[in-house]
Amino acid sequence: MSTYQEVYAQWQSDPEGFWMNAAKAIDWDKTPSKALFDLGNNLYEWFSDGMVNTCYNAVDRHVEAGKGDQVAIIYDSPITGAKDKITFAELQDKVARLAGGLAAKGVTKGDRVIIYMPMVPEAIVAMLATVRIGAVHSVVFGGFASNELATRINDAQPKAIIAGSCGLEPNRTVPYKPLLDGAIELSTHKPDFTVILQRDALAAEMKDGYDFDWNDICAADPVDCVPVEGNHPAYVLYTSGTTGQPKGVIRHTGGHLVALNWTMKNVYNVDPGDVFWAASDVGWVVGHSYICYAPLIHGNTTIVFEGKPVGTPDAGTFWRVISEHNVKSFFTAPTAFRAVKREDPKGEYVKKYDLSCLKTVYLAGERADPDTIVWTQDQLGVPVIDHWWQTELGYPAVANPVGIELLETKLGSPAVPMPGYDMKILDEGGNELPPGQLGAIVAKLPLPPGTLPTLWNAEERFRKSYLNTYPGYYETGDAGYMDEDGYLYIMARTDDVINVAGHRLSTGGMEEVLASHPDVAECAVIGVTDELKGQLPLGFLCLNAGCNRDPKEVVAECVKLVRDKIGPVAAFKSAVVVDRLPKTRSGKILRATMVSIADNKEFKMPATIDDPAILDEIREALETLGYAKV
Ligand code: COA
Ligand code: AMP
Repeated sequence: MSTYQEVYAQWQSDPEGFWMNAAKAIDWDKTPSKALFDLGNNLYEWFSDGMVNTCYNAVDRHVEAGKGDQVAIIYDSPITGAKDKITFAELQDKVARLAGGLAAKGVTKGDRVIIYMPMVPEAIVAMLATVRIGAVHSVVFGGFASNELATRINDAQPKAIIAGSCGLEPNRTVPYKPLLDGAIELSTHKPDFTVILQRDALAAEMKDGYDFDWNDICAADPVDCVPVEGNHPAYVLYTSGTTGQPKGVIRHTGGHLVALNWTMKNVYNVDPGDVFWAASDVGWVVGHSYICYAPLIHGNTTIVFEGKPVGTPDAGTFWRVISEHNVKSFFTAPTAFRAVKREDPKGEYVKKYDLSCLKTVYLAGERADPDTIVWTQDQLGVPVIDHWWQTELGYPAVANPVGIELLETKLGSPAVPMPGYDMKILDEGGNELPPGQLGAIVAKLPLPPGTLPTLWNAEERFRKSYLNTYPGYYETGDAGYMDEDGYLYIMARTDDVINVAGHRLSTGGMEEVLASHPDVAECAVIGVTDELKGQLPLGFLCLNAGCNRDPKEVVAECVKLVRDKIGPVAAFKSAVVVDRLPKTRSGKILRATMVSIADNKEFKMPATIDDPAILDEIREALETLGYAKV
């Protein structure tokens, strides 16, 4: 048995050997000659000269190894009451048929396919079918509106879009098809065709010759896996940056397979055959890595859960699913437990279920507040592991490697860097800071396999966003510190990204939408602290001179505008009209100061502030919304 220190040291002393060894767990059509490919100028790739297929490794190889009867996917929808179990053999058939249908309609290696689907097993089938034929998927979260979908259509230029007719939220049915039609209408790029999964709750209207029924496409003959180069993109996943234009994170095939497979035992401590559950959505990176790919690649059973932590039907849903399906490791966002705790603080629902199968709980996506961790630990009696990563990285970068060794947990820290990650804390000048001092969190290049090699169609943006500030390092966009034992503490973002219920959102993107309102002259959006969702967006609007409208009306229109343009997931529900925004003398809006006022935190008066009196006006405005209260 190795210790974490030993495993980390193995990687440090021989990264090439470490990853080539990890690569042995993957079935290659052609074994790569080496792990790291240095392209120069700080660009790196992994396993580029190997040939491999993701779907083969996630599905077919398990069938060939005699595990065809093992359950691959458990579908559990407390919203519809539906439950289903799909074995690896059944999954292979479904995936190979959809792949055959897509191929018959001309989708081929390298073509992009957008997937806009609710949490149903067909979403996973669509992802796997796409990579089976070497096409590149881009899954768009169902809570995004037409405009966001259109932005992604224009950037990814998909040949086809696979969508569900609707999504099911606890309080409403979300008609996806009209949103999809709207997006195609808005986009300059027009996909060749769509594939629509008609759901019982709401059938979509179909355009003859353009919209094809899922079942008809799947009536095609099954096709085999197409081996692709190790550096062939498996998918592009868009994530929020500082502007309304999302960043297309590329995931290369070889490194993705190797790294994800490594994490299943070493971080999540599951063995093939165990049931693993990530309660997230396929539209996020957690869903890509830990609902779809990693569990299947590693031969685990994964759960597709169409529900919420509360209200579907109650705060005991998580415990029911864990107990009923024998979940060993469970992963969700802290906000989900905050929601459960709020409804069931004493854990009455926990007591109703036999949870002896559950060995470890993992939290990521946002800061895990100590209260939530302690409550969860007390209720469940198992280790609750905070771990840190990002869409860009694809899997945990800082974690407690339970499958190697359960390290001491420290509240407020996602623990230590995983092999592949040399994390540093730097000051503004790029100097390494000593333990305890707050600075920018960076990772020394090269990043390990499975992380982003660049951004889709945007290498300059990749460099600007991640590489240029600290030469030789990847800039995470997070700030924090490291303690004497090498434990990392994540404290804040250094950019305009906020985290709402574990969802990563751009305040800059929301500002672009607000600025498009005809009465808004200037605006700012900040993320204020929220007990349930971690953060919530809050808008400040300065109206055009001469606009005499009732501010309440403008606010209501702005709230609707953000919902219509970005989607309900933005959770943009509050804004206030102010005369002016606080700025520096050079005109930069002092958003961080506004956040401190809203959260009632002490702050230093910015030396460069143009007119300090504006801060009093901001405080008054915030008080009308219930913020900034002592
Ligand atoms: N399709 C359409 N709409 C969606 C959607 C989807 N897939 N997912 C969410 N929405 C809508 C919700 O219905 C809600 O709409 P509303 O304003 O009409 O109520 C809105 O988007 C905001 O959703 P959300 O932030 O999820 O809030 P919520 O109040 O519905 O639920 C939690 C709160 C905490 C229960 C929920 O956020 C949750 O389960 N979070 C877990 C976090 C998670 O999965 N994170 C992923 C990274 S690990
Ligand atoms: P996403 O790309 O959506 O996964 O969001 C990544 C961002 O979420 C990180 O850059 C952090 O800001 C935040 N985040 C993720 N996990 C954690 C964690 N365990 N603790 C604190 N912040 C986290």
